[in-house]
Amino acid sequence: MARNGLHTESWKRASAEAAVAEVADGMLVGLGTGTTAAFAIAALARRLGEGLRCRGVATSLRTADSARAARIPLLTLEEVAEVDLCIDGVDEIDAEFRAIKGAGGAMLREKIVASAARRMIAIADASKAVARLGARPVPVEALPSARAYVERQLARLDCTPILRRNDAGAPVTTDQGNLIFDCHFAALDDPAGTATRLSFIPGMLGHGLFLSEIDALYLGTADGVVRTERNIA
Ligand code: A5P
Repeated sequence: MARNGLHTESWKRASAEAAVAEVADGMLVGLGTGTTAAFAIAALARRLGEGLRCRGVATSLRTADSARAARIPLLTLEEVAEVDLCIDGVDEIDAEFRAIKGAGGAMLREKIVASAARRMIAIADASKAVARLGARPVPVEALPSARAYVERQLARLDCTPILRRNDAGAPVTTDQGNLIFDCHFAALDDPAGTATRLSFIPGMLGHGLFLSEIDALYLGTADGVVRTERNIA
């Protein structure tokens, strides 16, 4: 069956709804960013309408807006140290639950919420499951005043950093007012090594490599939603 847009959307929705079924009364839920996470927000709002009591913490300003519109009670990120369950989309995910996130530019807050979560569920349509990470760029958030320095350091990591721009050609800024470099790696052979090297760059404020945060994957496929748990053996 062709993976056209219609199927992709229904697979995203199915994965999101299956994950939201895990939300239990009283939980604080990390609310992801992106089109798949939007289905989770809608599903959570429906469950609240059916009597579930829970609160959310948003991974981006636009997710906060959507959650408020859906009447999901929110805590702000600055007041949250621990989250019960985080549900968020991915751009790519491999069999070891290593993922690339941040196509929507929210990777810094997404990483904070995912790290604060006792359980992190990735939700995705089947197109996001990859044998090998790296076909998509790794987004990197950079301090605007360190732009040239960070760009040069990124280029030394065997990647081509492209400053993300909007349709008008202006640099895209994150919710924190920072820049984004989409880093195209020739080969992402060692994601952990790359993540470590990224973390050593002063002015590099966050990146989209999620290598250890994800505990479970709900993958929407033509055969339904396939749930897989991280193999901790
Ligand atoms: C947002 O910054 C991203 O990390 C998204 O979670 C990711 O890009 C997946 O987005 P979609 O669900 O829209 O594909």
